[in-house]
Amino acid sequence: MELGQPSRTALAAAAHRAAHQILEQGRIFADPLAVRILGTDAESIAREAEEDPSRRRMRIFIAVRTRFAEDALAAAVERGLRQVVVLGAGLDTYAYRSPFRDRLRIFEVDHPATQEWKRWRLAEAAIPLPSSLVFAPLDFERQTLAEGLAEAGFDPAQPTFFTWLGVVPYLTAPSVWSTLGFIAGLRNGAHVVFDYANPPDSLSPLSRLAHDRRAARVAELGEAWLSYFDTDQLHAGLMDLGFTEIEDLGPPQIAFRYFPSRAISFPDTGGHILRAAKL
Ligand SMILES: C[S@@+](CC[C@H](N)C(=O)[O-])C[C@H]1O[C@@H](n2cnc3c(N)ncnc32)[C@H](O)[C@@H]1O
Repeated sequence: MELGQPSRTALAAAAHRAAHQILEQGRIFADPLAVRILGTDAESIAREAEEDPSRRRMRIFIAVRTRFAEDALAAAVERGLRQVVVLGAGLDTYAYRSPFRDRLRIFEVDHPATQEWKRWRLAEAAIPLPSSLVFAPLDFERQTLAEGLAEAGFDPAQPTFFTWLGVVPYLTAPSVWSTLGFIAGLRNGAHVVFDYANPPDSLSPLSRLAHDRRAARVAELGEAWLSYFDTDQLHAGLMDLGFTEIEDLGPPQIAFRYFPSRAISFPDTGGHILRAAKL
C-alpha cells in the first residue's frame, strides 16, 4: 500500500466483479451493486476486461472466492450467527445488498486510506448504508485486529464470521498468523474464509508464468505479494490454533465444484479458498 493512497488492487478486484456481471452475467457470483460502486459505465468495464484475455482467470477466481465465502456465511446466518467482519473490505458490497443485512451487525475493516475512499464512492453512488454497519479503519501491519475491533465496538462474546478475501497475500506471514490467532481465540466460536496462494516454486510451469506476470503487476501498483503457504503446513498451523473444521478448495476442487461440466484437469497447486471454523 502506498502511503495515504487507497488500494489499487481493491479497485482492480472490484472491476473484476463488475466485469463478471457483464461478461458472464454474474453466473458464479451475482452482485447487483458491483457496477454501481465502481462509478464506471458497463461498456468501459467490459472493454477493459476484454482487452487482455489473461484477466479472465483472475476474474473467475475472484467470483468463486466471493461466492464460496457468501454461501458459507449464509449457512452460518441460517444457524443463528449475527456478527460479521469483512476484513480488508475494499469495494466489497456485501453489507449493502445482503438479504440478512437487517439481522446482522457488520464491521468493515480496512486500511484507513482505502476505507475513506470507499465511503466517498458509496456517497457518490448513493448506495444506502444499513444501520447495523460499522466502519473500522485499521492497518494490519501496525495495529492488531483486537485493538481495531475493540475501538469499533465489536462484541468478542458473539459467534462471528470473518471474510478475508484477497488480502492474505499482501500481508506478512506474522501479521496473517496474528489475525488468525485472534479469530481462533474468540471464546464463543468463529468462522473465517480467506484465499491464499501456494509458493511459486510449487507451481506448474504454466501457472508459474501466470503467477509471475500477475505478481509483477501488483508489485508495480505498490502492493506486492508478501506471503505464500504450503497447504499442509497451513492446515497444521490452523489446527494448532484450535480450528476444528477446515474446508480448502485448491484448483481441482474449485473446478469440480463450480465448473463440473468442463472436463479439464487442473494442477494441484495455485490459488486456494479456505474456510476454517472453531465452534
Ligand atoms: C485486493 S484488495 C481486496 C479487497 C476486497 N476484499 C475484495 O475482495 O475486493 C486488498 C485489500 O486489502 C487491504 N489491505 C492491504 N494491506 C492492508 C493492511 N496492511 N491493513 C489493512 N488493509 C490492508 C486493502 O486496503 C484492500 O482493501
